[in-house]
Order: sequence, then C-alpha cells, then structure tokens
Amino acid sequence: MAHEWEKLIERAADLVRRGQRVVVFTGAGVSTESGIPDFRSPGGIWSKYDPEEFTYQRFVSSAEARKKHWQMLRDTFLSYQAEPNAAHYAIAALDRMGKLDCVITQNIDGLHQRAGVPPEKVFELHGTMDWAYCLACRQRYPMDEVKGWLAAGVEVPECGTCGGTLKPAVVYFGESLPSAVLAEAKERSQNCDVFIVVGSSLVVYPAAYLPEEALWSGAKLIIVNLTRTHLDGRAEVVLQGKAGEVMTALVARLG
Ligand code: APR
Repeated sequence: MAHEWEKLIERAADLVRRGQRVVVFTGAGVSTESGIPDFRSPGGIWSKYDPEEFTYQRFVSSAEARKKHWQMLRDTFLSYQAEPNAAHYAIAALDRMGKLDCVITQNIDGLHQRAGVPPEKVFELHGTMDWAYCLACRQRYPMDEVKGWLAAGVEVPECGTCGGTLKPAVVYFGESLPSAVLAEAKERSQNCDVFIVVGSSLVVYPAAYLPEEALWSGAKLIIVNLTRTHLDGRAEVVLQGKAGEVMTALVARLG
C-alpha cells in the first residue's frame, strides 16, 4: 500500500513541479485538523444545525431569528480557538517556493493568511468571520469587538452608529458571493495549469464550478480529500487522505 501511495504522491508532486501557476482550492476539510468541524462529514455543522434556519432571509426576517443565529455562532465559529494546521503550512510553503498563484477558499476562518499566504493571494468566496458589518450604513466592526458585546449579554448586536442590524461578513445561503472576488477566482481558475482541491465535498455552487472552469481550460486537477467527490473521475491524481499528511508529503517532495 505504501508503495502505491508513494507513487500517487510522486505523480502529484511531478504535476506541481512542472506547473507554473498552481491554484489551491480549499473547503472546510482543510481546517478540521485545526479543530473546526466541517459541514457534511458525520458530526459536521449541518448534522447539528438546520441550514434552512441559517439563510440570509431568515437572518433579516426577525430579531428572534437573529438572536438564534448569534447563539449558534457563539456555540460554533465564535468559540473555536483554531490555529493553522500542517495543511495550511504546506500550502503556504508552496507560495514560498514561488509555485502558488493563489488560494481560493470557501472557508471563513482566515487560517490560510495566518499560515503565511499573503492576503492578496487568498480569495475568500464565502467571506470571513473576522468582521461584522451594518446592513444599513455598512460600517464594519472587528468580530472580536462583537464577541465582547455578546459576552456582556448583548443578544442581537446592532450598529453603534445607526442602530442598524449587524451581520457577520460571511456569505449566507440566499446571499450572492462577492462579485469581484468570484470574478477574480474564476479568472485564476481559467488561467492556472494545476488546480488542487483540498478538503471540499464540491457540492456548493458557484464555488464548485471553479474546478470545472480549470478543467475546461486545460488545467490538471489534483484532489486531496478524505472522501470521494464527483470530480474524482476527471482528476489526474486523487489522494484520498488527511489534508495535513498529504499536503506535507506532497510539498516535501518538491523541496
Ligand atoms: N482532510 C481531508 N479532507 C477532509 C478532512 C481532512 N482532515 N476533513 C474533512 N474532509 C473532507 C470531507 O470528507 C468532505 O468531503 O472535506 C470535505 C468537507 O466538505 P464540506 O463539509 O461539505 O465543506 P465544504 O466543501 O467546504 O462546504 C462548502 O458549504 O455550508 C456551506 O458555506 C459553507 O463553505 C461551505 C460550503
């Protein structure tokens, strides 16, 4: 088995070695080894919460809905003390090697930037949990500040300037993705020569169109994931394993 695995890692490393513009596309699976649950694995976020209750429409529908929403955030994303893991560091190493065109991520945890990928090379398709903004006047607040209000008993954070509704700078179901970010991510996907998917079930669109954009443009696809995806059949190499181990082994072969 080890020999087979080594061959797969070498094939992926060879594609990256020969690549000039490598795009890494990540999902929640790249952060589970940092202690952040993903969404669709057993025990994931959507096995504990109903996604129907956490749409943009629900959030803006009533203060009661927002109270429930902020409580969920306090019990999940706002409580994780997550650090980058080996996978994030391996991806940042690709950048130091001059291999990384960019990281396109569906994640909202900011761990790619904290692992050392320059922020201008990270495209956050689904926004970020680092900030909240007022839906009325657009003023932004660091989420750490809002966490302070929640800890002090505020149940539905509101804008200190205009009293409007505060919302995390995360793209909710029912909300459109930031158009400039999506356009740039599409452009990068169409112009790369190697596209590496790390830790995504590839079931949420339009994000999941990006690996297909890469394939249509002739890029080589590498998939690093614990479970199968619908694009496995179109990948040059599928590395079914843990992102930390796989990405570390892959980058080690490039060194
Ligand atoms: N290493 C490799 N793969 C992993 C690991 C790991 N340590 N842990 C989990 N995975 C895989 C799972 O097998 C799964 O296929 O990562 C994938 C995570 O899939 P999802 O939970 O669906 O997360 P993601 O693809 O990022 O979801 C996309 O859905 O709910 C929305 O906005 C949310 O951005 C999210 C989007």
